[in-house]
Formats: sequence, structure tokens, C-alpha cells
Amino acid sequence: MSLADVGGTREDLLGTAISSVGNSQGTPFRIPADRYRSEAFAEREHEHVWQKAWIVACSIDHVAAPGDLYEVRIGRYSVLVVRGRDGELRAFQNACKHRGIALCSGSAQGLKHLRCPYHGWMYDLRGQLTGMPSHKGLGENVDKSELGLTPVQVDTWGPIVFVNLDPEAMTLSEFLEVVPQDAKALKVDDFRCYAKIRTEMPANWKLVADSFSETYHVQTLHREMLGSIDDINSGQEIWGRTGVSRQLYGVASPRLIKSDNQLIWDSFIVTQGERMGITESCPAPMPAEGETMVDVIGERIRAYQKDEKGIDLSGFSNHEMLLLHQYNIFPNLTVLISADLLQVLSARPGATADTSELIGMSFEREIKDVPRARPFDLDMPADQAGFGFVLNQDVDILKNAQRGVNQPGLTHISLSCEEARVVNTHRNLEHYLGIEPSEITGGPA
Ligand code: FES
Ligand SMILES: [Fe+2]
Repeated sequence: MSLADVGGTREDLLGTAISSVGNSQGTPFRIPADRYRSEAFAEREHEHVWQKAWIVACSIDHVAAPGDLYEVRIGRYSVLVVRGRDGELRAFQNACKHRGIALCSGSAQGLKHLRCPYHGWMYDLRGQLTGMPSHKGLGENVDKSELGLTPVQVDTWGPIVFVNLDPEAMTLSEFLEVVPQDAKALKVDDFRCYAKIRTEMPANWKLVADSFSETYHVQTLHREMLGSIDDINSGQEIWGRTGVSRQLYGVASPRLIKSDNQLIWDSFIVTQGERMGITESCPAPMPAEGETMVDVIGERIRAYQKDEKGIDLSGFSNHEMLLLHQYNIFPNLTVLISADLLQVLSARPGATADTSELIGMSFEREIKDVPRARPFDLDMPADQAGFGFVLNQDVDILKNAQRGVNQPGLTHISLSCEEARVVNTHRNLEHYLGIEPSEITGGPA
């Protein structure tokens, strides 16, 4: 089994780096299963992770115009992301400074101010308290400047908006480590969000996030993909809080004994044919002399994007079209990028340790001279949510995951080196929760 180096660069934070090309001398990593079911552990995560880490909130397209507002719920926390009349993006804790009720839910456009629906305290879009009915009852010397909304840190990477409830937290740029630089050639700024789907999951948030942090499950759960993905030579790198794996599509898995162009073509159509606008099997076009199916499929995607959507991908090679970069960012974020697609998946905690929310945001490259539009926001049950052929398989398997994890005989989960990014999530969790010494055992000898 070949696995590119996943050497850590921040050993001070993460302890021994996971640096291995396989694990022939070692044992599986063992991680306490309680982390996936304990309410006490979930409570610690609320206090030390969800309140301290940078969390993806929405897309810029959700708050593109002055007066736009978007509420983001992260477990019990509620944050209002607001585009001010001055064009500045700000965020506030969603709590009126009078008696503390949430000021609003959902989203809004064209706002000039925020008015609490309970007693009518008014705030401007900078969070300043500007008025309160019957203010004499509050005293002649009430100082409005002390009663503004509590600010939340907000920043962006490309079209993705992040928030952080901790005023002392490091900057987003520092938090993301080398990810923005690594992804620079992919021009993430050019993407526009067109849809966001939220679905409640009957599983701990880590079970959801983990399933987007490894390719070990491709050979079993996504076997239809094997005809069109190199799932073995997909290198992984881990930088600290972040990591990446890169998978080439348009080639057959080395696991397959036999493959041909038709197999690659059919597999790609079944699993992601919508990228070419083809959803039914048909005879595979043959590559020209010196070319491969990567070129054939890359050209088809480019032509489809141009002809059907007016999106110009001429600046990207066929290889860039078919190489999927899968960035994992602690605690809960997966960002999938190739030339024609950007998909952002995040798992947020639910009301209890055994529930969560999966939020998926889909993006396309901007079309010249077409203004930004508000994305569709859909809230759907897990069995109806359409995330696409492959992601639907992930969602489906997660329906039963928690039932197993809840069994008392399961004291630990056992992970392979191919799941290095899952291990890394736990290493970062231990750092944020102050778990010392590490409870993670095993790994390469
Ligand atoms: S709780 Fe907001 S005005 Fe009273
Ligand atoms: Fe998957």
C-alpha cells in the first residue's frame, strides 16, 4: 500500500508526527470510542472547540450586499453575520443586551438596523445600541456604548465565511496554515455559491466529519468509483490543524485487475457524470494519440461548462480538471476543489452527542458579467437530501453508524495510516481540550 508522506510539521502541538508509508511494523491507532457518544465530552467540545476554533459560517454570496444578514448556529451558539451599510462584514453573538433573547433567526436582506422583537431595543449594523423605548426607566445615565452587541471574529478565505467566538483567537490566516497558499492556483476567489443544504444526522459530528477525511472506504462503500479514481496513490499531507489529500480521477484504481477506457468512462458517468452533463452510459470516446481518458473527460467537462453555463475553464489543464484536492480543516471542515468545482462540507454538533448537522455548500465558477445571487438554502431530512451519488452513499452509511458506536463493548476505534487525517482531528481535539498525556495509542512502530 502506498501512502505518501504525512509528516507533521508542528510536533510541539501534535506530538509524534504520523509519518509513514504504510504501517507494516506497527499497530492500528486506538482512540477512545467514548469521544463519539459521551455527553460530557460533547460539553467539553462546546466550551473549548466550538467556542475557540474558526468555524465555517456561510458563503460570501449569503452576505454579499449591504444590509444582508445570515444567522449561523453552531451547536448551542448563534452568530449573526451582517454586511454593514458601509460594506464591511461583521459578526455578533445573537443576544440582545437587554434580557438576552436571540434577536432574529434565519436570514434577511436590505436591513438598516436590528430591532429586538421583545422590547424594541434597536441596534445599527455595526452592533451599536441606537435606541430603546421608554429609556427613562433605564436611568438617565444609561451608557448605550456599553450595550452594543458582542462582536464575533469574522473573516473569509475565497468565498467561504468563517467565524470565531473567541476574541483572543489567532487570525483565520494563521489558523488555515498553508492551505490558502497551497490552493492558490485553483483560484478559489472565482467561485460563487449557488446552493446550501442542511440536513440533520443521527450521528456524532465526528462520525460525519471523519467520513470526509479518508479514502480508505472508497474500495467498499464507493466501489462504483473504482473505475475512475486512483484511490491508492492519493497522497496525503498534514500540516497541523489542516491537511490535504489529492485524488486523480479519470484513471482506474490500481486495485482493479482489469480496466479499459469504457470502464473509466462508465464509472465517471455513474459517480460524477453531471460534471460533463452526461448521466447515462454511452460508448466512450477514444483518446487521441498520446492522450488518456483524463484528457477525454477533462475536455468534456470544459466544453460542458462553456457551452451550457458560459464558464471559461481554458486556463486549467485536463489534469487540473481531474485532480481533486480535499482539504481537511480542524475541527469539522472538508473543502473539495478542482478546476470546475468547489464543495464545502461541514459537520456541526447537534443538541445531543449522538446527533449533528451536515451542511453542504456547492459552488461554481463565476460567469463573466453575471452578478452574485443569493444561494438556494435547503433544509432536508437525511433520506431526502440530494448530495450527489457518492455523498449520498456517505450519508446513507452514517444512518447506522451511531448505533454501533453506542455499544459499551466498543471501547476504542482502530484506525489505519490511511485514516491519518482522522487521527489528526483527534490530536487537535486533545490539544484544544487539554487532554494530556495523549489517549491515542498505537500507530507505526
Ligand atoms: S430582550 Fe431585547 S429588548 Fe428586551
Ligand atoms: Fe465517502
